[in-house]
Parts: sequence; C-alpha cells; structure tokens
Amino acid sequence: MKIVAGPRSEALSAKLAEELNAELVRVVHKVFPDGESYVRLEGAERLVGEKVALVQSLAPPQDKSFFETLLMLDALKRNRVGEIGLVVPYLAYARQDKVFLKGEPVSVDVVLRSFENEGVSFLVTVDVHNEEVLLNRKMKCVNVTAVKLLAEHIVNEISGEVTLVSPDVGRAEAVRAAAEALGCEFLCFEKHRDRITGKVEMKAPSGASAKKRAAVILDDIISTGGTIKHAAKLLRSLGAKKIYAGCVHMLASEESVRSMREAGVERIISTDTLESPYSKISVAPLLARTLKELLP
Ligand code: R5P
Repeated sequence: MKIVAGPRSEALSAKLAEELNAELVRVVHKVFPDGESYVRLEGAERLVGEKVALVQSLAPPQDKSFFETLLMLDALKRNRVGEIGLVVPYLAYARQDKVFLKGEPVSVDVVLRSFENEGVSFLVTVDVHNEEVLLNRKMKCVNVTAVKLLAEHIVNEISGEVTLVSPDVGRAEAVRAAAEALGCEFLCFEKHRDRITGKVEMKAPSGASAKKRAAVILDDIISTGGTIKHAAKLLRSLGAKKIYAGCVHMLASEESVRSMREAGVERIISTDTLESPYSKISVAPLLARTLKELLP
C-alpha cells in the first residue's frame, strides 16, 4: 500500500506511512495567482496497479481542500492505480447532514457522492459528526473514533476524581463508553441550537453535580467555542473544581480559545486530524490499524 500525502495532511500522512512501513507519495501543490488550485503526484509512474490511500483532511478553507481532493483523485485514476482508498481525517460539511430548513441542501451528501463518482472504493474518517451519513453508500465507509484516546490522554494528566462530559446527546455514546473504560463519572448535557438565530441553550440533567471534581468536556468539533463555553458555565454552576476541553477536530481561532479560557477552561487538547497548536494526540495508530484491515 502507498500513502499519498494530501497537502492538508502532510504531517499525519508521514506518521501514517511510518506506522504502516509504507511508501509515502508526495503531492506538489500550489495556488495560481487567480486562486485556482494545482496538484501533481510525485513519482506517479510508480503508482500503476498499486493500492493507494490518499490522506487529506477537509481543513479550512474547506472548499479548497475538497476541490484539491477531487483533483488528486482524478490524477490517481489517470495513473491507473489499482485501488483508491480515501482517508479524510476531518470530514467537513458533515454537520449539514439533513435539510433543517426548507430550501437547504444536504452538503455532506454532495461531498460523499463526489468521492464515489471519482472511483473511491473505501473511505475512512474520524469521528464524523453523524455516523448515519455513511450508511448505504456505494463505497465502503469506516468511521474511527478517537474519543477514548483523547479522554485517556487528558485523564492521565489530571489528579483526583474526574467527570467526563458530553455537551450534547450526539457525543453521549462515545463519551459514556470512554467514562466506563476509564472509571470516570459521566454527565450528558442537553443542547438546543436555534437554526435561525444560532442561539444555543444548554441544560444539565436534574440533580447533576460536579462538586470537587475535575470535569473534561469532550466533543467532536470545537469551532466558535460556543458549545464549550456553555458547558463550562454549567459545570462551574455544578461546582466543578477544574474544567478541561478535548475535541477531535480543532477549528477554533485564537480569539475563540481566549474566550473559552475566560469561561474557565483550563486546557484545550485536540487530535491531529487538523493541524493546530492544540493537536497533542495523533490518530495515526488508529488509522493505520483500520487501513491494515481494509487493505491487508
Ligand atoms: C455540534 O453539534 C457539534 O457536535 C459541536 O458541538 C459543534 O459543532 C461545536 O461548535 P461550536 O464550537 O461553534 O459551538
């Protein structure tokens, strides 16, 4: 198997190739002065008939990363590779997974259909916002969860008793499983987002307490930091001693990080599905295990 390092996931691709002891194929890329993207597979002649896994997160700017992916898939097909697997550590547009308001598209469907149309035989992603979007696809789809890895890493750095917190029901199952495995308490908040104003409301279950405990909020994505700030506020009102936040995909700006800190969040940690100064945990071993199963 060869690992093709998409421009948005170069560091992760290198780690993955090392884990798998696989050849790393680099991609020359640039943006023309008018804004168009250009990619070229290095050593393309060595790819004929080979099984390849192209690694590319749909990192911001998401549309550009998406289009680069389509260009790389086209280049792979033109070089007659044997099988194309696509590893998309962060699958952008996954939150628009249904028509919430009349007149909207299902964006994640557009993204996944485009990959299928480019001949991808399997897709591997990490903590997709809603796993159901991967069902009934032409290509095989695998979602890998990094929530337990993330929780383990953060909990190991904290002394005393810890509560793992899911800020909404979407993450509840994964966070509950991590809490059980690590012997932590578990809390799940109820979150409601107004689709028109974007306003978020969050509630704790009645009788909940976090007194004298450290609390770790775990989410798939941190973007504006609004979800984490609401959860931190609730946790302070429930008596939490210290508050930490962990996410798989870190999209927050420095300004958002500042505002989460002001809301009482001591530390923010993420995985390396997206490159950021907060990516302290690599998903490479998880992805390597999955790719070994898919392309033995
Ligand atoms: C939404 O349901 C997701 O799981 C995240 O909670 C959300 O995308 C985080 O976004 P923000 O940081 O903007 O609140």
